[in-house]
Amino acid sequence: MVKTKNRFIKDFNFDTESYYAVKHKYEPSNICEMPVKWSRAKDFNVYDDKGNKWIDMTSGIFVTNAGHSNSDISRAIKNQVDSDLTFSYQYNTDVRDEFIKKLFEISPPHYDKVVLLNSGSEVTDAAYRLIKTWGKKHNKKYIVTFTGSYHGHVLGSDLIGGTSTSTNWCNFKDKEIWFLPFPKEGDELDLNDLPPLDEIAAFFLETYQGWGAWMYPQKYIDKLYKTSRDNNILFCFDEVQSGFYRMGTLYGYQTYGDYKPDIITLGKGLTSSLPLSALLSTKDIIDLDSNINLSGSQAGNAICCSAGLANLEFLTDETFQKDFQKRVKLFERLNKELEQEDGVDVVNVKGMVSAIIVKDGDMGNYVTKRCVNNGVLPVWTKRESVKLGPPLTISESAIIESMGVIKDSIRSYNG
Ligand SMILES: Cc1ncc(COP(=O)(O)O)c(C=O)c1O
Repeated sequence: MVKTKNRFIKDFNFDTESYYAVKHKYEPSNICEMPVKWSRAKDFNVYDDKGNKWIDMTSGIFVTNAGHSNSDISRAIKNQVDSDLTFSYQYNTDVRDEFIKKLFEISPPHYDKVVLLNSGSEVTDAAYRLIKTWGKKHNKKYIVTFTGSYHGHVLGSDLIGGTSTSTNWCNFKDKEIWFLPFPKEGDELDLNDLPPLDEIAAFFLETYQGWGAWMYPQKYIDKLYKTSRDNNILFCFDEVQSGFYRMGTLYGYQTYGDYKPDIITLGKGLTSSLPLSALLSTKDIIDLDSNINLSGSQAGNAICCSAGLANLEFLTDETFQKDFQKRVKLFERLNKELEQEDGVDVVNVKGMVSAIIVKDGDMGNYVTKRCVNNGVLPVWTKRESVKLGPPLTISESAIIESMGVIKDSIRSYNG
C-alpha cells in the first residue's frame, strides 16, 4: 500500500500477462505498453479503474506537456464542439487562422510557411519528400542522419529512421540516406565521414535521441551546423518529441545554439492532447513543387486547432514559464544526483526530459517495474534506460517524490 499526497496504490501488480490477454485479443501483439488500464488522467496524475493513482513521468508518450486534461484546453475543445464546427477539411476557419497566427507569433521569425497534418510520422514524411525534391532541384542527393533515431511509422519516416530493419517489410532502402553513428561526448565531426559535401541535400536530426535522451556534443553539432551553412545544405530538426518546452526552450534545438534550421517538424506537445502536427519552413522549400501532396482530409481539424491554440497560450504564459523554469532546475538537479548511485552510468537530462542510463536492460526493467508498483510511471524503454518526461505542470513535491522512488528502486536492485 502506497499513500502519499501524489500517489495511491492499493491494488496493483505489474502483470503483463492478464493485461495483454485483453489488449492483444483485437489489437496488434507488438503494441506493448505498461499494464496499466487508464480510466482518467488529470494534470500529472494517471488513475486506473481500481482507484490507483500514479505520478506520470511519461506525458503519455511526450504529448501532454500542458498536463493531462488541461482545463484551458478542455474548455477550448468544448467551446469548439458547441460552435457546430467540428470538421472543416482544409477550408479557412477562424480557429485555424488563429492557431497558425499564434504558432508563427511564438516561433523564430525566419519561418514563413507551415504545413498542417495529423501525426508526427506524417510531418517527418513530408520533410523527407520536401528535402528529396529540394535536393533534386539543387543537384544534391544525400540526406545525412543518425543511426538509432526514430522519426515515425510511415515509409518516409521509416527510411530516414536509424534502424537497419525498419523497412525490411518492403525490401526497400533509400541508398541516398547516409547514416552516421550517433556521436558520444567528446566526439568531433570528421568531414571525411560524410559523403561529398556538394552532394548533401540535408542533415536531418532528432533533437535528442529517443530512448536514452542522448544529446549532441556541443562542438560536434556546431560544426555540423556550420558545414550546412557553408555548403548550402538544409539543416533540419525533428522536434516532434523535443518541442514545446520539453527541453526547457520552446524548441529543443534552441538549447544548442542560435541556429536557423530550414525545416522543423512538430507534433505531440503541439496540442498536449488531440492529433495535430506541423512542419515549419520557408516559401522556397514548401512551395518548390506543386506536385508534392501536403494536404489531408483531417489536416488542421477545427477541434484539434482549438486544442492547439489553447495549448500554445497556456505554455507561453509568462507566469507559467517563470514557475516552470524553477521546476526545471529542480528536475535537472535531482536527476543528475542519481549519477552517484551504483549501476548508473550517466544521466542525460535537459529541461524536463531525462534518461537514467543504467548498466543493462535487466536493471532498466527492474527499476521501471518497481517504480510502477510504487506509484510512479516512467517511460518503459525495455532497455538500459529509465526515461522520464513528466507533464511540464508537475509540482515540486511530485518531482521530489518520484525521484525518491526512482532512487529507492535503483538501490533495491543493487540490494
Ligand atoms: C522524434 C519523433 N519523431 C516522430 C515521431 C512519430 O510521431 P507520431 O507517433 O505522432 O506519428 C515520434 C514518436 O514517438 C518521435 O519521437
